Amino acid sequence: MLSLAIERVPTGIPGLDELLRGGFPKGAAILVTGIPGCAKTIFALQYIVNGALKYGDRGVFITVEQSVDQLHRQFMEFGHDIKKLQEDGRIAVFSLEIKPELGEDFLMRITSEEFKSAMLEFGAKRIAIDPLNLVMQFSADYGGERRGIQRLITTYKKLGCTTIFTHERSKGGLEPEFGVQDFIVDGIIYLQLIKVRGAMGERESLFERRLSILKMRETDHGQGIYRFEIEKDGIHVYHGVFLRTDQ
Ligand SMILES: Nc1ncnc2c1ncn2[C@@H]1O[C@H](COP(=O)(O)OP(=O)(O)OP(=O)(O)O)[C@@H](O)[C@H]1O
Ligand SMILES: [Mg+2]
Repeated sequence: MLSLAIERVPTGIPGLDELLRGGFPKGAAILVTGIPGCAKTIFALQYIVNGALKYGDRGVFITVEQSVDQLHRQFMEFGHDIKKLQEDGRIAVFSLEIKPELGEDFLMRITSEEFKSAMLEFGAKRIAIDPLNLVMQFSADYGGERRGIQRLITTYKKLGCTTIFTHERSKGGLEPEFGVQDFIVDGIIYLQLIKVRGAMGERESLFERRLSILKMRETDHGQGIYRFEIEKDGIHVYHGVFLRTDQ
């Protein structure tokens, strides 16, 4: 019988795959976006680690912001040894140092023939780039931001990978301003860190974390603004839709 169901790539993040009706559509390019500290890096690395541990998918995490040691310490807190996963060949984590003054180009590094061969040889099914902003900075030589990001997305789709790009947004809020990256990607997960007034009494405030799926081509998805927490094993998403707008 002909099945119209699309193939899914589950994130393994508790509470999220139900909202995605099973996971990201296979081959999709997903933006995970928000202000500093909203948990973009944790989200992206959790996607790669879960891929290996829960679904047997090999994944590659590429950062230009943090050292592998720093990510290792962060994930040991969550009970996952990313160095061991790397040694066992189940994931690969790279912290790239780009030296533009020596003519190095980030976009070239992560779309080169050498890079593609390495991904195919490793058998990568998942890729995470943290953050996309640097790609955008290097896009001038490739016809501008739109062409640069498109080149990256097309390269990874051809490799058969389902990819997360984190994206640093300087302004949050209920209605973020959108840029070229938002229109090109297949899906957007928007993470918010919101100060809730009086939540701990009349005077005190606290930060709450919220997640929304702003876009996900090819699939139905949860339309709410959902609370999430960073717990002892990483991100958990809860389904009580937020109605409060007192940010
Ligand atoms: N073990 C932990 N338990 C609970 N919360 C944690 C834990 N580790 C980190 N956090 C929270 O996660 C935040 C950092 O998350 P992450 O590094 O993913 O943010 P980010 O969005 O990538 O930030 P940036 O834009 O600066 O790179 C910290 O500011 C802290 O609030
Ligand atoms: Mg980060």
